[in-house]
Amino acid sequence: MDGMDLELFEAARKALEFAHAPYSGFSVGAAILGDDGRIYSGCNVENAAYPLGNCAEASAISAMLAGGARRIRKVLTIGPGRVPVTPCGGCRQRIREFAAPSVIVICAGLDGGEPLLTTIAELLPHSFGPQFLQENTRGE
Ligand code: THU
Repeated sequence: MDGMDLELFEAARKALEFAHAPYSGFSVGAAILGDDGRIYSGCNVENAAYPLGNCAEASAISAMLAGGARRIRKVLTIGPGRVPVTPCGGCRQRIREFAAPSVIVICAGLDGGEPLLTTIAELLPHSFGPQFLQENTRGE
């Protein structure tokens, strides 16, 4: 992890502390490096109506867009334990919407352990994206 990765780590760790996760007890933080060079973070926000809960990555993406950045340069996700917490399937698709295939996703555990460094293409191979819609509506 380089200096920027450590900044992402700190931002995600701080966001995790503000998570609202009383139902699962599983607090997650995410941090995104936007194409404006700034870091945006988010935490999971659960709800008594369980399916309405939001993941940390979704919160961080909202913060990025509202902050004015349009594309994701790098992502870091952190959760409890030693095992790196990887983005859920839905969040892989959410990240993919705003990230090039080669964008690095760092997955970390709060209690040490070696972080997992991967890419969004590796996490979500053969993914569906905006280009499918354009290709299928061209000329119509
Ligand atoms: N969670 C995230 O915030 N991000 C992920 O990618 C994995 C899951 C949250 C959702 C829920 O609030 C809790 O972790 C347990 O699933």
